[in-house]
Amino acid sequence: MITDTAILNNPSASMEADFLPLNGTDYVELYVGNALQAAHFYKTALGFQSLAHAGLKTGLKDRESYVLVQDKIRLVLTSPLHKGTDIGRHIDERGDGVKVVALWVDDATKAFEETVSRGAKPYMQPNVMEDEHGRVVRSGIHTYGETIHLFVERKDYKGVFLPGYEKWESAYNPTTTGLKFVDHMVGNVPLGEMNKWVNFYEEVMGFKQIMSFDDKDISTEYTALMSKVVSNGNGRIKFPINEPAAGLKKSQVDEYLDFYGSAGVQHMAIATDDIVGTVKELQSRGIEFLRVPTTYYDTLIERVGEIDEDVSILGELGILVDRDDEGYLLQIFTQPIEPRPTLFFEIIQRKGATSFGKGNFKALFEAIEREQAIRGTL
Ligand code: FE2
Repeated sequence: MITDTAILNNPSASMEADFLPLNGTDYVELYVGNALQAAHFYKTALGFQSLAHAGLKTGLKDRESYVLVQDKIRLVLTSPLHKGTDIGRHIDERGDGVKVVALWVDDATKAFEETVSRGAKPYMQPNVMEDEHGRVVRSGIHTYGETIHLFVERKDYKGVFLPGYEKWESAYNPTTTGLKFVDHMVGNVPLGEMNKWVNFYEEVMGFKQIMSFDDKDISTEYTALMSKVVSNGNGRIKFPINEPAAGLKKSQVDEYLDFYGSAGVQHMAIATDDIVGTVKELQSRGIEFLRVPTTYYDTLIERVGEIDEDVSILGELGILVDRDDEGYLLQIFTQPIEPRPTLFFEIIQRKGATSFGKGNFKALFEAIEREQAIRGTL
């Protein structure tokens, strides 16, 4: 058993040349049933701003995409315009979900060649898009399930998002909620596939495994899961990969896989530098979070030591705390944000900690099981 205090490899200390340098997450694209209404939800409830739009008005025939921004986070929400499209099939099979995790690179052609030569399945050959604001090169490879990584090279582009998109001017501009950037994105994969995908990120993308949790770390009376975390060389991209482990009842990963129909993105963790302010704002706008029993807070300071925040306020809001060798973190998890119990968000504030909240797993998974029991899917 290796815990999150055992950092297997410090990626920034690696002496090997990084064959896939990544500057960060470029955007995340979701295929959704009604992108226009989803965009309203992301603006109203999560504080995103309108950024760009592509669709019939810009010459597209098969889809409408709305692009939203909050600090460094860009979301693209895409819906099909007709029956019989691959986007429509994806939504029919999986409900709303993440299709593309786009990664910002300096050279999308090299990123494609390096990963495909190491065994990646190509999704998009390097493809140049141009308009009056410059040029963007994109390429893409497949990862778990039907999820795609696109490599986006935008150093010669000054436009609002990508060529082909027009600026989306909206009269409705709700304030932000303090969401800053994508901290990590978690994939759920079927039983027996976690190591395959960890190997994929290591061998094909040059990532390093930085943490590992087994079913002794992540189990309750009824359910268990296993997880390994991979990170790229500069640590800006972190992907935990979960697989279900044998338990008495169906685990949350099994439930996800049943409803999503394949491996896919389980949650997107978004960083804030004021989790109390962010969560207050999100709750006031109707975002619902998983709650742990109030007894969690009775022994919180004993478990994590002194913290800057007022424990009673954390308890009111349901914010969880965990500590590792480097500091502590605060985190909270939303309920699923679509009818199926699939994709959800985590809000995280790191105060030195580089781990993922292992000390909260048990309380959290018991909370998820209570929700599963209510759904009849435990
Ligand atoms: Fe997470």
